[in-house]
Parts: sequence; structure tokens; C-alpha cells
Amino acid sequence: MTRRILVVCVVLLLASALTAAGQDLSTIKLPPPQTDGGKPLMQALKLRQSAREFGVEKLAPQVLSNLLWAAWGINRPDGHRTAPSASNRQEIDVYVTLPEGAYVYDAKVHALTPAAPGDLRGLTGTQPFPAAAALNLVYIADTTKLARPATDPQQALNVGADVGLIAANAYLYCASEGLATVVRASIDKPALAKALKLKDTQLIVLAQSVGYPKK
Ligand SMILES: Cc1cc2nc3c(=O)[nH]c(=O)nc-3n(C[C@H](O)[C@H](O)[C@H](O)COP(=O)(O)O)c2cc1C
Repeated sequence: MTRRILVVCVVLLLASALTAAGQDLSTIKLPPPQTDGGKPLMQALKLRQSAREFGVEKLAPQVLSNLLWAAWGINRPDGHRTAPSASNRQEIDVYVTLPEGAYVYDAKVHALTPAAPGDLRGLTGTQPFPAAAALNLVYIADTTKLARPATDPQQALNVGADVGLIAANAYLYCASEGLATVVRASIDKPALAKALKLKDTQLIVLAQSVGYPKK
């Protein structure tokens, strides 16, 4: 009997430790991006392609830092970014799903801010491979930053174009760095929005899996 109580206590303790670990995400300060080096642009363009098979390795913090800066970092003192955006509204947030949780990229401080605990990689797509990628970027429009409602057809086109430009930057960085990547529209958006605790004013546009190529 005493042994059974002991086992129950250990299980409860482990469960609460795991829950606490999941909920205790803290801000990840990224190392400053390396803004020189990499392959020449024309070589990166030659190598750009989609890949849907990923190795198990995580991205090193420096590689993650470089990827996010290349995709949607601040590249000028006035706060403008590596990708253009319609009227410089900068309405796109890049969420990053890692095995330990989901984060939002804060370009101003070049850090990842916790969004939701737990491994949401698989939820970022309806295909099987996003769960196996080192991370998935999720491009989410904050429609409160738009000049007109997102239902306006031109606004919707602008949002799509803005995301496409960020995703293209990520593709080119991946091509330069020898990473595997694919941008994706196949997403169960209601399920992902719930898991990421999004507001009604936040629109999931596309996701992009990134990782090392499968050997
Ligand atoms: C807007 C958009 C949505 C896409 N959605 C998916 C997707 O849901 N799943 C997927 O596996 N690939 C997706 N792709 C990747 C395309 O299938 C891929 O770019 C295309 O086959 C051309 O291959 P390449 O990128 O290697 O040139 C998408 C690409 C774009 C631009």
C-alpha cells in the first residue's frame, strides 16, 4: 500500500514538473545576426527549392538568429525591415514553433517572446512533415495594423504579398545556409489559431517549415 502511494506521488510530481516546464517558457534572446557572409545572391537563387524531408538536428541559436533576421529583421536605424510591406504597415508577425513551445519574433529586440507552451509543430500543417521539422515559421497578419479592413480585396492581396516577401527571404537564407524549407498554405487554421491563443484580429496566412536536410 505504502509503495503504491509512493508511486502515485512520484507520478504526480513528474506530471506537475512537466506541466510547469511547458508553461514556464521564457524569452529567448537571440545572438546578434551575422549580416555578412553567406552565398552570393545568384548562387542562393540557383539553389532555392522546396524540401519536405528534414533531419532531426535543431537549429543552432546563431542560425535561428540569422534566419529570423534575414526573413523579417530590422535592417535600418529607422526600423524598416529586410522585407518590404505595403505602406510600411509591418503587419506580419512571425511565430516560431519549436519543440518546447511557440514564440513570436520581436524584431525590435531580436528575441523570441513566449506565445504558447508545448510542441505545436505538427499543428502548423495538415501534412505529416511539419512535426519533424526543426521549426515552423507561421506568418500571422495583425489586421489592426492595416489601413483598411482585411476584407477589402486589395488589403488581402497586400497581406499575401507581404508574407510572400518574408517567406522568400527565408527561402534564400535557407538556400544560402544549406537548410531545407517549404512554405505552406495547407494549415488547419482554426485549430492552430486556438493553440496559439490568437485574437480574432489575427489572421494566419502561411507557414514555413525549416530544418536541416534529411541525410
Ligand atoms: C502560397 C504557397 C502555398 C504553398 N503551400 C504548400 C503546402 O501547403 N504544402 C506543400 O507541401 N507545399 C506548398 N507550397 C510549395 C509549392 O508546392 C512549391 O513551391 C512548388 O511545388 C514549386 O517547388 P519549388 O519551391 O521547389 O520550386 C506552397 C507554395 C506557395 C508559394
